[in-house]
Amino acid sequence: MWIFLNDRFVPREQAVVSVFDHGFLYGDGVYETLRSYGRRVFMLRKHLARLERSASHIGLEPPIPEKEWPGLLQEALERNNLEDAYLRITVSRGEGEIGLDPTLCPRPTVVIVAKPLPQYPAHLFDRGVSLALVSVRRNLPSALSPQIKSLNFLNNILAKQEAERAGAFDAVMLNAHGFLTECTTSNLFFVRDGRLCTPSPEAGILEGITREIIMLLAGEQAIPVEQGLYTPDVLRSAQECFLTNTTMEVMPVREIDKSSVGSSLPGPITTSLRSLFRASLSRFLE
Ligand code: PDD
Repeated sequence: MWIFLNDRFVPREQAVVSVFDHGFLYGDGVYETLRSYGRRVFMLRKHLARLERSASHIGLEPPIPEKEWPGLLQEALERNNLEDAYLRITVSRGEGEIGLDPTLCPRPTVVIVAKPLPQYPAHLFDRGVSLALVSVRRNLPSALSPQIKSLNFLNNILAKQEAERAGAFDAVMLNAHGFLTECTTSNLFFVRDGRLCTPSPEAGILEGITREIIMLLAGEQAIPVEQGLYTPDVLRSAQECFLTNTTMEVMPVREIDKSSVGSSLPGPITTSLRSLFRASLSRFLE
């Protein structure tokens, strides 16, 4: 396995980062998860733009010029002889003396990992996954904005642990005011009276790139799309529910807190958006 580290590709065994890296010491850094279909990357520009935005939120300047990322990602795919791959870019503050001041770190650390895409079992797509509404609240945007795809993922990890203890596939997190936000690595959608609903950015979510495409495709099908602030009761009475992210695409939800969602699974809007997403993929590959 070849990994890009800072300025070159090295074998996995040599891809090591300092114990003084502030990504390790403080979770000070950002990342992006991308995927390729064959060797073409899904929504590459949007992912790179989000990486830049996350980095700029924390005052970090990635040392790789934006125009060089596509070539590096392609090289990561080629060197590892991969098609349909999972790609992760990580940019941390870099190595520096212990202390919070970012100026202690002269140079950010950059890592690109490319590996085969993890496969979700087919039965999850056929029957749907279970969710648990957890007590861990999504980070308050004014404290640590969920828009920043940061290396500090403890908020989501704590929520995921709670979901696992409840025997669920993933957690639905509420914000500090009790409104729905998202799951630990995906956005939440549900269907109410023929309308596709999803928590708005105002609720405190990461604006997923898959979420954006699903809203676009739904709009093209004349399915009314609504973003808002929703309470858990609204979700509990939904006719359909699904999750979106780069690696799962569209994942149907079967039950929430052990109660079934809707009557047929996966529901008709979920099924049609999932098929449409797959059928339209070529529009979104770069
Ligand atoms: N997660 N919300 C959160 C908290 C996420 O971490 C992600 C992505 C999403 C969906 O975003 P997108 O559609 O752009 O993948 C929503 C990725 C998959 C990850 O952390 O690996």
